Amino acid sequence: MGETLEIHAARVIGSVRPGGPAAAALREYLAGNRTLGAVGRRSVSRAVFSYYRWLNWLEPANSAQKRVTQAAELQSRFDRDPSFFKVEALAARAVPGWLAGEMELPAAYLRQLQREPPLWIRAKSGAAEEVGRALGSAEAPVLPGWLSPAAGLAALRYRGTADLHKSPGFQSGAFEIQDLSSQLVGLACAPAPGETWWDACAGEGGKALHLSDLMGNKGLVWATDRSVRRLALLKRRAARAGMFNYRPAVWTGAGSAPFRTKCDGVLVDAPCSGVGTWQRNPHARWTTSIADVRELGVVQAGLLARASASVKPGGRLVYSVCTLTGSETAAVADGFQAAHPDFEPAPLAIGKGESRVTLLPQDLDANGMFIAAWRRLR
Ligand SMILES: C[S@@+](CC[C@H](N)C(=O)[O-])C[C@H]1O[C@@H](n2cnc3c(N)ncnc32)[C@H](O)[C@@H]1O
Repeated sequence: MGETLEIHAARVIGSVRPGGPAAAALREYLAGNRTLGAVGRRSVSRAVFSYYRWLNWLEPANSAQKRVTQAAELQSRFDRDPSFFKVEALAARAVPGWLAGEMELPAAYLRQLQREPPLWIRAKSGAAEEVGRALGSAEAPVLPGWLSPAAGLAALRYRGTADLHKSPGFQSGAFEIQDLSSQLVGLACAPAPGETWWDACAGEGGKALHLSDLMGNKGLVWATDRSVRRLALLKRRAARAGMFNYRPAVWTGAGSAPFRTKCDGVLVDAPCSGVGTWQRNPHARWTTSIADVRELGVVQAGLLARASASVKPGGRLVYSVCTLTGSETAAVADGFQAAHPDFEPAPLAIGKGESRVTLLPQDLDANGMFIAAWRRLR
């Protein structure tokens, strides 16, 4: 690698813009340092993320390089023996103080946050075995009893070291990189072939692609987002996946849908604080505030209410967020329920018939996620 890993990681940390995400600084740095190679890139990324995971244990007077080294030592100490770190210390230092007012912080959750995150992939329906065989080092998830079996799940955990973006399976669209909990959102929707669905916050298309696949490419998925840039990425991914049954459109979230049809199903995968992704993205623990959480709760309630107008009688509305804060989960769902007597809670297609589920990182070794569903009365 020429220069040491610590020097590279310290440079990335030094280039993070105030309030900006470390992941963006990392991407920029790696793009400008192509000679690092796949192994070098992975090591630098791990060092940067360990730094933010253990930030409150580091000695601020030390140089950035020294702090990077210290964080790596703390990470391997933890990996060898998580119980070495007391739960009280984790609660005080691994998360911001405001989090305790928004969710429970059991020991298992706090320990999970300090682990390095797994890499999940979603194979096309029916292709998991073949994809797993071709990649090697890939295994099916072990789901908690209340969730299992999740029919149609084609998730694999990849433990290998290859750059998956370069693998033939990825390039031919046989699989996508997608967190296990995000895959469970698609399954919870359970769209049927021939139906019309609206993915109202489709972003780069992770869930829209999954809905299309579950529909066997039959029917229609309206994929909208307020970001034109994200929709452009969605189109590229859709082409690779051979997804044809979709229509992309801009929806700012302010008014009604950019189409007239009433849908069999509407998914609102709303913008959120992302607390459920803090294992994968530890820097966000230190840039997200309680004010953000409260503001997002209002945005989510608005998006959900406006998108619900496009659900046809008997159709389904699904709300998902990759966060675990009360203000963005139960409070939004309760508020919607109270204001919309024409909707009744509907069982999700995963789990044991509940209309709301909370997927916890410590149960799945995946992102935290909240999902709720309703049916519009006929
Ligand atoms: C959680 S992300 C969606 C992720 C995507 N569904 C996926 O699975 O890849 C939320 C999306 O909502 C979009 N968004 C944020 N605020 C919005 C608003 N007010 N109206 C519409 N979309 C919005 C963002 O651009 C972002 O793409």
